[in-house]
Amino acid sequence: MPRRLFTMRMLPAAVLGAAMLAALPAGASDPVGVAAKGGFPEYLFLEKLPRAEAEVMARKLARAVVAARMIIFAHGAKITDPKLGDKGFSGAVFEEQWRRSTEDLTIDATPAQKQIFDKLYWAGRQVMDNNQDRINVQGVAWKHFLPAKWEREMGQVLTARTGIIIKQPGRTYRSPVNVPDELERETLVHYIDAGRDANQPRVAHTTMGKQPVVRYMEPIRLLPPCLPCHGKPKGEPDMLGFHKDGLEAGDLIGLMSVTLAVSD
Ligand code: HEC
Repeated sequence: MPRRLFTMRMLPAAVLGAAMLAALPAGASDPVGVAAKGGFPEYLFLEKLPRAEAEVMARKLARAVVAARMIIFAHGAKITDPKLGDKGFSGAVFEEQWRRSTEDLTIDATPAQKQIFDKLYWAGRQVMDNNQDRINVQGVAWKHFLPAKWEREMGQVLTARTGIIIKQPGRTYRSPVNVPDELERETLVHYIDAGRDANQPRVAHTTMGKQPVVRYMEPIRLLPPCLPCHGKPKGEPDMLGFHKDGLEAGDLIGLMSVTLAVSD
């Protein structure tokens, strides 16, 4: 007589239930598309500075990035001119203007600081070179190239090469890269509550994983030309379709946030 096959009917209900659960993919009941908990933006901090220098350098880096944003901002009319092809705003042209406008920051730089500045200029230039086709498109006004976009891309290139983190968390961010972490969120709230005259940078000596770091943050405030997108009326679509922030010139829109590893 052939041996009887094991049939489903012979299994107790509890065993069947467990078997069905095991058939579901692991984590099937977890929320989908949310941020993973824990973790850090960097794990290998290639460039480090002594604590005594790190805070000053973080401030200088923030100043240098603001200067670069201003250079790109000043080229805004040219970049958005649909009639123009080549804008003459190459990586080399940009780097030359950027270096010149930040001479006061680099003049007294230590060799270690100078090395970091060179990598900063390099990262900024990479991003300009990488965006040339976009910037030079003819027949289109809006090319999705803005100071904020340059900074986002530059920050990622710089972090890849140095482990230094430069980002611009927003109070209502348009790019998900600009989502504030806990400290940045607290700092945004601090500046919003403190009003328009609160421009004193905030510095925290903390750790990122096992690495001691200096975190430097200062407010980014709106200027009148920012208002077609970040101004009023609140909720009305801007030229790109994002809802306007409903803010005024002088209001806080985001932070210049620099994280630098310390070596001692
Ligand atoms: C043409 C519309 C437009 C104008 C004008 C504009 N922005 Fe934005 N802003 C954007 C867009 C789009 C992003 C997202 C850029 C990206 O990362 O791709 C952004 C991002 C930002 C961010 C980063 C946080 C975030 O929202 O992701 C800051 C800070 C910011 N802008 C400040 C300013 C300031 C200051 C000005 C004026 C000097 C300005 N913007 C002018 C559209 C605009």
